Amino acid sequence: MCGIVGYIGDKNSVPILISGLKRLEYRGYDSAGISVLDSDRCSIIKSKGKVSILEKKVIEHKLNGTVGIGHTRWATHGEPNEINAHPHSNEDGTLTLIHNGIIENYSTLKKTLQKRGVTFKSETDSEVIVHLIDSFLKKGHNFFQSVRYALNSLEGTYGVAVIYSKEPDKIIVARKGSPLVIGIGDEENFIASDVNAIVAYTSQVVYLEDDEIAEIYRDRFNARTIKDIEAVKEVVELEMAADEVDKGGFEHFMLKEIMEQPESVFNAMRGRLLFEDGISKLGGLKGFEQKIADSERIIISACGTSWHAALVGEYMLEQFCEVPVEVDYASEFRYRNPIIKKTDTLIFISQSGETADTLAAMREAKRKGALVLGVCNVVGSSIARESQAGVYIHAGPEIGVASTKAFTAQLIVLALITLMVGRHKSLSLVDGQNIIREIQSLPEKIKKILSLNSEIEKIAEKFKDAKNFLYLGRGYNFPVALEGALKLKEISYIHAEGYPAAEMKHGPIALIDENMPAVFIAPKDSVYDKVISNIEEVRARKGRIIAIASENDNKIDSLVEYSIKIPDTIRMLMPILSVIPLQMLAYHIAVKRGLNVDQPRNLAKSVTVE
Ligand code: G6P
Repeated sequence: MCGIVGYIGDKNSVPILISGLKRLEYRGYDSAGISVLDSDRCSIIKSKGKVSILEKKVIEHKLNGTVGIGHTRWATHGEPNEINAHPHSNEDGTLTLIHNGIIENYSTLKKTLQKRGVTFKSETDSEVIVHLIDSFLKKGHNFFQSVRYALNSLEGTYGVAVIYSKEPDKIIVARKGSPLVIGIGDEENFIASDVNAIVAYTSQVVYLEDDEIAEIYRDRFNARTIKDIEAVKEVVELEMAADEVDKGGFEHFMLKEIMEQPESVFNAMRGRLLFEDGISKLGGLKGFEQKIADSERIIISACGTSWHAALVGEYMLEQFCEVPVEVDYASEFRYRNPIIKKTDTLIFISQSGETADTLAAMREAKRKGALVLGVCNVVGSSIARESQAGVYIHAGPEIGVASTKAFTAQLIVLALITLMVGRHKSLSLVDGQNIIREIQSLPEKIKKILSLNSEIEKIAEKFKDAKNFLYLGRGYNFPVALEGALKLKEISYIHAEGYPAAEMKHGPIALIDENMPAVFIAPKDSVYDKVISNIEEVRARKGRIIAIASENDNKIDSLVEYSIKIPDTIRMLMPILSVIPLQMLAYHIAVKRGLNVDQPRNLAKSVTVE
């Protein structure tokens, strides 16, 4: 994980680095640091905790320099303190480095360097890289070659940026397994883990590929492979606007992103529905439609919230496409021997497109010859680029660590894939058109749900001190129960579990007493009566019940303490609506508990380590 940013040009790099780091804090916020080139030495300032603490320090020290690199850390090796914060430097302070990733052979390298008399300051794996580069410099190699030789000795993953006071006209960057993008400006250039950090300064970017290394000057860059062969790079124009990554007047990114869902859901479907033919048109899958429809099996793999979207996708595809579907945690997928056939289609879902486990699972599936599709939000991300075909969800930048609008946009895309595959099979025109009508009605229905914000805030007040929560749903709403529980856990630190409602009686029912809130997702669908029986079971044991129910359901009010009424839709799309009150409930509970909802403890948005 961790975020990397860098600048080379004529301006003072410090404010650019700080603003970039703030935009990268979703990647980690255990510590932060920057290093700038200042006459013949690299000045470093680091701090434990958030970028705002670092910012105060750099202002006090009046740090200034036209070349600089910055880092925000999510700790893997070594506790999150100032010493372990990046940048790390060589012994004479001429060389500084920032790193995102994990160096697997660091302890062997460290021992070798220590035997040669090198003193280490930190407990990090990253520090070995800077000393290794230094050892090649001491042998007389130039800066570029020294970095290249050092990287060739590493096992593991890295996105690195290095500056050297004896060659102050460049930043050297390289990537293997961790993202790195170069921003092209006018007589100035930028580097970052992700375009969010630099979109305010330039819209022209170059994505570095794995095993590539580049020298970035203020007016040009040279990219080569780690084996020293020239790499031809394409400059890509970004479509994203800088204000998309602001809070836009909301107190938190999470709330802004929840409230954006009418638009993000619309953007996910925009231009992709052909009503006349009752089908969806997905440009990124062009030429693969029949192959996907002919697959003998579909496997969907993802992590976290994206895995919950995958579960909903399983229900959709099995209901409408007569194809067996399996859902796998990406982190488990490659640690067994998954039976993958060439007739299988694999769909990898990832908001960031950089989750290490999902990326690795995708590469494994590709090696086994299956058709590999990506469903990503971040344009140009690793999963988007390495999959054979795919669909962007177009949710716009999601900064809040707890995923909200990406989830609902992922579900739209899965519904569109279902529609496309279904229509290549036996789904009728009329049924296809009905699905389209319902998909198109979602943004308005979401607006209605969002208008319940203050009502949900009041419910949050009543439950903010609960120690545990149960979330229960059946069928399509079982994954929603999992997602509701995850949202609450992530940002409020209240223990919560999601369960299929009927499974409750096989264990969790033992937990029910007058202190245990149970959130039932109980819209009027084919399993409604059964869920009502489950509600009765909790009532009988004095559990406190909140129900997410259909707006025309008057019966449920007499059974539950609170009901949140939402509009109806067809079953396959209900999760897109039913999850929204759960996002709002988690948000308000966390705010009322005084917690930082955008940056919950121990988490990071993009988990680029295993
Ligand atoms: C992290 C985030 C989650 C996210 C998961 C998968 O754990 O905190 O919010 O769902 O990674 O991320 P991805 O980018 O692959 O969807």
